[in-house]
Amino acid sequence: MSHDLTLRNSELLRTRNFIAGTWCAAASAARLPVVNPADQSLIAEVPDSAAADAQASVDAAHAAFPAWRATPAKARAQILKRWLALILEHQDDLGRLISREQGKPFAEGKGEVLYAASYVEWFAEEAVRICGDVIAAPVAGRQMLAIKEPVGVVAVITPWNFPAAMIARKIAPALAAGCTVVAKPAEDTPLTALALAYLAEQAGLPAGVLNIVCASRAQTPVVVDEWLRDGRVRKISFTGSTPVGKHLARESAATLKKLSLELGGNAPFIVFDDADLDAAVTGLMAAKFRNGGQTCVCPNRVYVQDGVFEAFAYKLVARVSALKVGPATEADAQIGPMINARAVEKILLHIGDAVAQGARLLTGGIRVREELGPNYVAPTVLAEPSGAALVCGEETFGPVAPLFRFKTEAEAIALANDTPFGLAAYFYSQGVQRIHRVAAALEAGIVGINEGAVAAEAAPFGGVKESGYGREGSRQGLDDYMHLKYLCQGGLA
Ligand code: SIN
Repeated sequence: MSHDLTLRNSELLRTRNFIAGTWCAAASAARLPVVNPADQSLIAEVPDSAAADAQASVDAAHAAFPAWRATPAKARAQILKRWLALILEHQDDLGRLISREQGKPFAEGKGEVLYAASYVEWFAEEAVRICGDVIAAPVAGRQMLAIKEPVGVVAVITPWNFPAAMIARKIAPALAAGCTVVAKPAEDTPLTALALAYLAEQAGLPAGVLNIVCASRAQTPVVVDEWLRDGRVRKISFTGSTPVGKHLARESAATLKKLSLELGGNAPFIVFDDADLDAAVTGLMAAKFRNGGQTCVCPNRVYVQDGVFEAFAYKLVARVSALKVGPATEADAQIGPMINARAVEKILLHIGDAVAQGARLLTGGIRVREELGPNYVAPTVLAEPSGAALVCGEETFGPVAPLFRFKTEAEAIALANDTPFGLAAYFYSQGVQRIHRVAAALEAGIVGINEGAVAAEAAPFGGVKESGYGREGSRQGLDDYMHLKYLCQGGLA
């Protein structure tokens, strides 16, 4: 059955930057094509921005900041709630747009809109709960307060894998805190961000509070370097690769910007011999194959205890080989195209390398649907590559599950932690004491225990080690957009 991805409200297809409340071309008039990864068709062109556009966005955000921070939290929350209502009203169209520019199946695209909306709702509700401390003064005649203030202009840089959710979970807390925003969506998926900005405008967000600047892969460093140099930008919130995160940390040192960095992961998924195997397979399917495996928190290395290895592999292969690969226009597609041919090359390289390193290919391992284009990969299960294989050391970012055998709990923990990354980790066990031991021993910001779907707006999302710092979502997520000011008033005795 085919699925129609035509937008019902064509106003949502915005093809210009949004700066100072105006939809505008790049100063250079350069354009960037946005291509559907399902079939390489052109969806639209957006501005390919440069330093002048980046500067104009900061001018606008900086000018809008005093009024926005002075807007009562309740009024900011009301605008966020109107934005939420419009996102929900347009959830089908936004889902269609995500599927068209990112490739994920429509049910996942629409699911992502609801996921994005959950962050807007959460932070609209948190905005009115911002409060500080009255501190017991150590001497008489003083009043000591710690109050929270918005940091100022925030630069938001988002990836292509969740075109709505990643930008919403950065913009919503920034706006709730009273910050203004300059944002650069990923070069592959700018249209969803522009549609969200359009709905924010319709919700009554004042001009300049949110600014969106689009740029190609080549122009992105030009735009971002301008923001890095500009002392008026007080914070950067970035989701993407660890090398880029390190670059941002280094280059923002000159103006000591606050940073939230949600970087690469290399998540382990451990199945102990006391696990409910069916639940573990279901958890791995959810965690690994969501968004075709193009997710920072998706398991990259699956460690299965010796005694249950064959049974687990058998059950997993049955589920993985039944997944339907296809474009979002096919209503029953479960795994869409990868974002581009480069991503596919990397996935195939990892598979080939694993096989060369001794892995057995249990299912998948090849390009499929080639009549549609080069971006489709069969969901793949590999058994027992060596620990030196690429799949062990770096994120594959695709629908590939490599299974490694282990014997003892201590060995599994050592293998799981043997990575510079520490975003998510998962394990399945029914042993109460083991659950406590392993949860404490895993070096990760997020641990799924007998659960594969861990992300939620109410939970702190973020990593340790080289997966970055800062937390998104949750009560704590708002603090990342504020600083503490200490007020000490004397002479009161
Ligand atoms: C990510 O891939 O960075 C985000 C995934 C999520 O929010 O679950």
